[in-house]
Amino acid sequence: MSAPITPVPAGVRVRVPAKINLALCVGPPRPDGFHPLATVYQAVSLFDEIQAVWDEPGVFTVSVSGEGASQVPCDERNLALRAARLLAAKHGDGQPLGVALSIQKSIPVAGGLAGGSSNGAAALLACADLWALDVSLEQMLALAAELGSDVPFALLGGTALGGGRGEQVVPALARGSYHWVLGFGWTGLSTPAVYRTYDELRPDATKPQVPAELMAALRAGDAGRLAKALVNDLQEPAFHLQPQLRRTLETGLDYGALGGIVSGSGPTCAFLVASEAAAIDLCVALTADGVVRTARPVVGPVPGARLLG
Ligand code: C5P
Repeated sequence: MSAPITPVPAGVRVRVPAKINLALCVGPPRPDGFHPLATVYQAVSLFDEIQAVWDEPGVFTVSVSGEGASQVPCDERNLALRAARLLAAKHGDGQPLGVALSIQKSIPVAGGLAGGSSNGAAALLACADLWALDVSLEQMLALAAELGSDVPFALLGGTALGGGRGEQVVPALARGSYHWVLGFGWTGLSTPAVYRTYDELRPDATKPQVPAELMAALRAGDAGRLAKALVNDLQEPAFHLQPQLRRTLETGLDYGALGGIVSGSGPTCAFLVASEAAAIDLCVALTADGVVRTARPVVGPVPGARLLG
């Protein structure tokens, strides 16, 4: 007699990248407290993976493992869980939906790499597929914008311009592939705290605009030119909150990076280098120097959230 077949829960897996900001230009706070942005996002090859399996109707759970897992809340603050609930509420048509999400993290928490936002985007895509919902990309982008400023970009990936509070994304004219080194900090930075510090340091902030030179460097696919044009208005506030980041950036440049910048609200530092070999050398040098907890070589741009076969 043959052994009974144990049913395997039908699951869906999604891979989603981290982002860096090649330009992050910030205006004065809006009446709703958010800041108008003119930003250029690039998705890079550091990925979280999320698995979604059916659960009983009305049951939504999440578990997290990997990099920084103990710092990720698994309750209603979790962006992946909120994404699943939002999708079910808006597009579930009253069907008996439920899901158990598991997230395998490689993107550091509170690192300025949109780790949480990317998990929200991945959950939207995973649940839409698991539940076989008929949701267009436009509808998905609208849900993503409701979840957070960086969530729509995590669906899109590549290199993109971000307007509004960052949620209005359009692909940028960009050529070439870039080698980066990401230097992870010892402790995270709170994005709202960095924006508050920005308001204190820059009461004179005006309408933000991405520098034309940065867009020209991207169109030309010229890494050396791009390195000189990188700009982040949140870098000074991040230095204010973590003064050691200045030295991290200087150290990367001393070891031969073409350019370096704090990623988003930090504390991750992103260094642009000339080749894969240069990226590996810089990872070793930064780690040995002790200015970062660890460093990872990545490339960008890469696609946004994708279903895994
Ligand atoms: O949109 P998201 O939830 O990711 O934003 C997190 C926090 O970052 C906001 O609550 C706000 O304090 C700050 N933020 C901002 N302006 C933006 C984006 C984020 O002030 N454009």
